[in-house]
Amino acid sequence: MTTPVLTTSNGAPVDNNLNSMSVGNPGPLLLQDFHLIDKLSHFDRERIPERVVHAKGAGAHGYFEVTNPDIPKWCRAKFLNKVGKRTPIFTRFSTVGGEKGSSDSERDPRGFAVKFYTEEGNWDMVGNNTPVFFIRDPSKFPDFIHTQKRNPQTNCKDPNMFWDFLGLTPESTHQVMILFSDRGTPKSYRHMHGFSSHTLKMVNQQNKASWVKFHFISETGIQNFTAEEAGKLSSTDPDSATRDLFESISKGVEPAWKVSIQVMEHDDAFKYRFDPFDVTKVWPHKDYPLIPIGRMVLNRNPENYFAEVEQAAFSPSHMVPGIEPSFDKMLQGRLFSYPDTHRHRLGVNYQQIPINCPYAARGGVKNYQRDGFMAVNGNGGKGPNYQPNSFNGPEPNPEFTQHKFEISGVGARQPYTHPNDDFIQPGNLYRLMDEGAKSRLASNLVGHMQGVTVREILLRAVSNFYKADKDLGARLCKGLGIDVNDVVKFTTRSNL
Ligand code: HEM
Repeated sequence: MTTPVLTTSNGAPVDNNLNSMSVGNPGPLLLQDFHLIDKLSHFDRERIPERVVHAKGAGAHGYFEVTNPDIPKWCRAKFLNKVGKRTPIFTRFSTVGGEKGSSDSERDPRGFAVKFYTEEGNWDMVGNNTPVFFIRDPSKFPDFIHTQKRNPQTNCKDPNMFWDFLGLTPESTHQVMILFSDRGTPKSYRHMHGFSSHTLKMVNQQNKASWVKFHFISETGIQNFTAEEAGKLSSTDPDSATRDLFESISKGVEPAWKVSIQVMEHDDAFKYRFDPFDVTKVWPHKDYPLIPIGRMVLNRNPENYFAEVEQAAFSPSHMVPGIEPSFDKMLQGRLFSYPDTHRHRLGVNYQQIPINCPYAARGGVKNYQRDGFMAVNGNGGKGPNYQPNSFNGPEPNPEFTQHKFEISGVGARQPYTHPNDDFIQPGNLYRLMDEGAKSRLASNLVGHMQGVTVREILLRAVSNFYKADKDLGARLCKGLGIDVNDVVKFTTRSNL
């Protein structure tokens, strides 16, 4: 095999890559040495902004295969219309709060983002390994994330900030309980489930809408590290999950998930006992059982991490006909936030980057967007750059009109209107745990809460768990050396 000749970025052969051009020896360097200047200046610009959340991650290619002939009953998306149909996918897993160099085994939710390259464009399922989230209104998200990151003065993680926000945000109790349970430290990305968490709308060929939640159930089963194992691994192998995914796929192991949906009839949403669009709650399986629809398999590693994983840009607003947003306020906020951050992180033409390009869409991307930084797909050539036009440019087709819905009400900043039931589901979850799981949860919470130095913050945070389950509250009080009566009193006060 002949070795290729090294070239400059403009493709000219390079004679020497080890010595810069100097006048004399030693001596000053020459501005005319384009190879050196180009090499240094390109290097100077290698870093792009890291994701503001979910910065550390790993990804792989694979496919989704339909296993259920009934999906068209609920959804007209073409990639779901036939058993055995395979759609190429790219999946990225991540931790949330840490920086790009942080440890994979940190206690944190895990991101679970899947890009489906369908024949009708890309659908991104941008979920987590937890079925619920900390908050239910997008206006709280930046504040929430600030408290999980670093203190603005010390630049250290800060248990006071962390528990102050969560204590003042009772709807977070469910997700925090999952986070501090065994599931907060998954053994690897292969050993965890994935959830859309949000409710989405599915629309069928007859324009009938239903509400759905997606579940990706790991075929390997859930496996977790203990807090001690995870803590140790953070220092000995901070890339454990990244390596596990890459090495498994290299060895021919094909990580796989059974994909199921929960389906709620359209009108039931407005009669159900709680708001099914509230992302801090699960839909009980006894009311809405899991319906298997397919299988997701990962079988190919990226060739290049930056090109495929770092430049991957997922968005809940990347949808295809048959899959639409619900009234979940958090989802609505995310529809805006992701393409916005991609324009900042990757540029306005982020959809042209090969990993994001909807290459399987029949006929490719055809629209009137033009120019902008890094327009590298031919930019529409000599075709018209406006619509309507008389030159046979692409036209919209009413066949793809979204499901029409009626809404009415007062325009105002308003909370979800449902009973004060933030503690029912977390309490039930706690009572389902066996003694070992209960005691590890309490010990994980105590371990983290021990860093809180402001008594009021600590009492309020504990009082939320007390409201969910008195036994858990009592265990926390014991572990933290607090009198239960103080928490009870506090509970009463904070309810006013
Ligand atoms: C990443 C915003 C809630 C899952 C991100 C990013 C932003 C963001 C700005 C960085 C994206 C990038 O640079 O590529 C928000 C906002 C939320 C929210 C504003 C609430 C209003 C959620 C929820 C989930 C979630 C509820 C899960 C159900 C993810 C995942 C990623 C991510 C998986 C990483 C995607 C990837 O692998 O590239 N989020 N997020 N986020 N978010 Fe959210």
